[in-house]
Amino acid sequence: MISTFTTALLEWFAHYGRELPWRQTRDPYAIWLSEVILQQTRIQQGRDYWARFMQRFPTVELLAAASEDEVLRLWQGLGYYSRARNLHKAAQQVVAMGAFPSTLEGIRSLQGVGDYTAAAVASIAFDVDAAAVDGNVYRVLSRYYGVATPINTPQGKRDFTQLASSLLPAGKAGTFNQALMDFGAIQCTPRSPRCVICPLVETCEAVRSGRVGELPVKRPKTKVQERRLAYIYIRYKGKVAIHRRGPGDIWQGLWEPLLMEGDAQFDTAQPMVLLAKDVRHVLTHRILLADFYLVEAKEKPSLPEDYQWIDESELDRYAKPRLVERLLERLPD
Ligand code: ADE
Repeated sequence: MISTFTTALLEWFAHYGRELPWRQTRDPYAIWLSEVILQQTRIQQGRDYWARFMQRFPTVELLAAASEDEVLRLWQGLGYYSRARNLHKAAQQVVAMGAFPSTLEGIRSLQGVGDYTAAAVASIAFDVDAAAVDGNVYRVLSRYYGVATPINTPQGKRDFTQLASSLLPAGKAGTFNQALMDFGAIQCTPRSPRCVICPLVETCEAVRSGRVGELPVKRPKTKVQERRLAYIYIRYKGKVAIHRRGPGDIWQGLWEPLLMEGDAQFDTAQPMVLLAKDVRHVLTHRILLADFYLVEAKEKPSLPEDYQWIDESELDRYAKPRLVERLLERLPD
């Protein structure tokens, strides 16, 4: 049985759905590319990037054969470069598979493809009955059905995915998913939704209970902890001491000078010159507050054994976290 909601939504989409270039094709590569780009930017800018990618790489084989550098250059301006690297790797995976995967699991196995993208591509390109649940979908369903489960929690993801799946018209998932996306983007917008012209206003639970402004519910993010640390750049006879970070942390494999957790306590007869204090460095899950010091050592300091002395002129050849580059920018010549 097709619900009132779905019937009205599809009718709305037939009238007001957006004409977008990737809706003129069933090519899974073109559709996947549009989804990856749209995770990163809005529709208008997304169109330009999509057109440029499609022009330069009309097929997944051509994207796979490109250099990573060229892919990154085309991606420039969208940010979050790991997405561009994943795009490139996934294209190579597809070529190795022999064809673009046509199942939910197959698409989900591509580098960088999560639940949302897999469902979007599978439904739009292959008519797989899968609900693609993004921010727009959370909002529309949360309001229409009056569901107050916080959307940024695992429970929220489960509840809304299940609800969307139960509403999916068999064989038309691609249209349904895109209708929900457009409805959320155009009609049931985050602020000032257009309830007065909404075809679903009569049966909308948020409207009935006066909670349009309160739904969807988001759980406040726990405040990210700030962590203090100090980097001590030790020079000795034209050399500098660095070490490589081990596995299991954010900067795995990158090189850095002497690191102290908390405030710096470096036992040396030489004075430490403070280069910068409380440098704020914002990461996804924490904020670092770093102090930078320079030690011009007259005698060779003893350091933990994983530190190496390298020529300062060779530093460029070592990959370093951005925070360490910020220290280097503050070094006196
Ligand atoms: N946002 C992400 N994917 C989309 C799509 N296929 N149509 C409209 N908006 C989108």
